[in-house]
Amino acid sequence: MSAQRRDPRIEHLKRIQELNRAIVEKMSKIRYKVAVLSGKGGVGKSLVTANLGVALALKGRKVGILDADIHGPSVPKILGVHGYTMAGSPEGVLPVTTPHGIKVASMDFLVPSEETPIVWRGPIKTSAIRELLALVVWGELDYLLIDLPPGTGDEALSVVQMIPKIHGTIIVTMPSDLSRIVVKKAVSFAKRMAVPVLGVIENMSGFTCPESGKTYYIFGKGAGRKIAEEMGVEFLGEIPLDPRITEASDRGKSFIAEYPEAPAAKSFIEIAEKIIGKVESGGGDEERTTEGGEPMSFRLNTDLLKKG
Ligand SMILES: Nc1ncnc2c1ncn2[C@@H]1O[C@H](COP(=O)(O)OP(=O)(O)O)[C@@H](O)[C@H]1O
Ligand SMILES: [Mg+2]
Repeated sequence: MSAQRRDPRIEHLKRIQELNRAIVEKMSKIRYKVAVLSGKGGVGKSLVTANLGVALALKGRKVGILDADIHGPSVPKILGVHGYTMAGSPEGVLPVTTPHGIKVASMDFLVPSEETPIVWRGPIKTSAIRELLALVVWGELDYLLIDLPPGTGDEALSVVQMIPKIHGTIIVTMPSDLSRIVVKKAVSFAKRMAVPVLGVIENMSGFTCPESGKTYYIFGKGAGRKIAEEMGVEFLGEIPLDPRITEASDRGKSFIAEYPEAPAAKSFIEIAEKIIGKVESGGGDEERTTEGGEPMSFRLNTDLLKKG
């Protein structure tokens, strides 16, 4: 008689449990986890996350960034570490450390090349992030910023659910009136997840012509502040459009360090100070229970990891 068959569903659930335990353990030395959310893509969520990371690091905090946007993992590019690989260690894999001292974990470090198209099927995406989280050795951090997948759908939801104890969320929006609906969705998303909203950041708010000094409000003016007031959440500040932000990161440099006098750089620092004030004063420390199983498993191609 053959031995009892192993039920693949039970095996799968066991595997998820195992990974969840590893995630809790790997993240146990992180003081504050802050998720960055946007109602939709293209509003500058990754750019804002990366630069806030730099601003927090300049304020003396130990910072990590989890690039959880599997479709467009862009944090490594913004922070000048695109094309790097995560090194292996006996405990797991080590995040890549940027020149600003920020630890970054991203799917970008694990996919073969830019030219390789990856077709992620829904459940596999979630599993890939879970595997990544279970592997990454963050060590001690003051802040882990999480660049969530865009929108407020299943993908963002699954990532939030697999991370133990997120302290707060930041919503990035554009200054147009059309943002009202997407910000509203993001606020209710955070409430549903029982994660406190730290506030709203308005990105791409106006462009000041360096020659004339005149400011053009290309995507509208002031809607971010108005919307935040309407929703009863704090307005953290606005980041103007500044081509130097992308230009600096294309050179692998930190925009804030290179152009400290730029209004956008000052804004990032001010917003980081507000976040520090809110988070470190002990607000928003709510424990959540998380679990969500998905029907498929995915193993990262760990052959791509540099042996270290
Ligand atoms: N304040 C800004 N000034 C100049 N360019 C910006 C600004 N915010 C975003 N961008 C540019 O807009 C594009 C989209 O930003 P990104 O952070 O990738 O958006 P998201 O992560 O929301 O999809 C990028 O090319 C980025 O460099
Ligand atoms: Mg992005």
